[in-house]
Amino acid sequence: MKWQTKAFILRQLSQIPLGKRLYLLMQKLAGSNRAQPERDFARIVELLEMIQESGQTAQGKVFFEVGSGWHPYAPLGCYLAGAEKIITVDVNPWMSLASARECIDASKEHIQQFAKKMELDEAAVSERYQKINLAATNLDQLLASMRTEYHSPGDASATGLESDSVDFIISSNVLEHIPATILKAITEESFRILKPGGLYVHRFNPGDHYANDDGSVTTANFLQFSSNTWKKYGEGLAYHNRMRCSEFSDIFREVGFSSLIEKERVDPDAVKAIEDKTIEVHDEFKRFSLEDLAADYMWYTGRKPTTVDETAEAKQMGESPVHHQI
Ligand SMILES: C[S@@+](CC[C@H](N)C(=O)[O-])C[C@H]1O[C@@H](n2cnc3c(N)ncnc32)[C@H](O)[C@@H]1O
Repeated sequence: MKWQTKAFILRQLSQIPLGKRLYLLMQKLAGSNRAQPERDFARIVELLEMIQESGQTAQGKVFFEVGSGWHPYAPLGCYLAGAEKIITVDVNPWMSLASARECIDASKEHIQQFAKKMELDEAAVSERYQKINLAATNLDQLLASMRTEYHSPGDASATGLESDSVDFIISSNVLEHIPATILKAITEESFRILKPGGLYVHRFNPGDHYANDDGSVTTANFLQFSSNTWKKYGEGLAYHNRMRCSEFSDIFREVGFSSLIEKERVDPDAVKAIEDKTIEVHDEFKRFSLEDLAADYMWYTGRKPTTVDETAEAKQMGESPVHHQI
């Protein structure tokens, strides 16, 4: 599908009263929001591995997820890995009893592989899975049986949770959909509710998502537009903040997180499109490096410092200690 056609459809849906419901129905008909356990387990494994890489584990810990989406894969993975509690919030009520059941059902044949990959005791993981109440008659009941609370609409920038009460804040494919000012507020709230030493763990996609549907453009395509023009294509249900990786890093650092992992993936097709001027990067983006412009994925882990001095030091850090281009 031409990307402009998809943008037009999403724009129309964003402007009508029952647009969100219609969007959900269209996704169901097209099968685009069907459970994909292999792909989605791989994503939660990445988040859990980032936690391990930072020297901590999920066992007995409290998680807070920003952006639950349609299927509770992240809460399921955290629960199977031994989490004590998972709170997940979304501004949109995409998840339903049926979609959660579909995810848990479809996960059955993947949990042994998940246990192996995470080096967890297979019998313990299997036992946790067996305890999930698939016969539950409402979503809250089903999620409670895997130690999960779902809040939608929920506000990750005003959680109502106690300060220093959460071990890990996670998200997958969400931060690029949040406006910079709200992301800053969410990051500040996350800093408040995380325990000292707690981790802020995210994987997200700063590239143009329309490139997934239209092979004629690259993930850098949207960088040719001014903010005003982009409003036509990337608002409402199609919202993308177009922030570059360095801007995400700046927010995390300014709030006080000390960066443990920062990895970016650069899309070679986007590099080529910028270099050979298939697209003319708009003046608003000219201050960024080529790698920053062409990055189409980022993995980030920040740690909440344990002392006031450490926080001040983290805020002053210009460069992150770990920064890979892959
Ligand atoms: C692409 S989906 C990803 C969902 C899920 N994490 C996954 O990987 O399948 C992005 C999700 O972020 C949610 N979202 C957008 N802005 C948000 C915000 N400010 N707070 C919480 N969730 C948000 C959207 O409603 C949507 O469900």
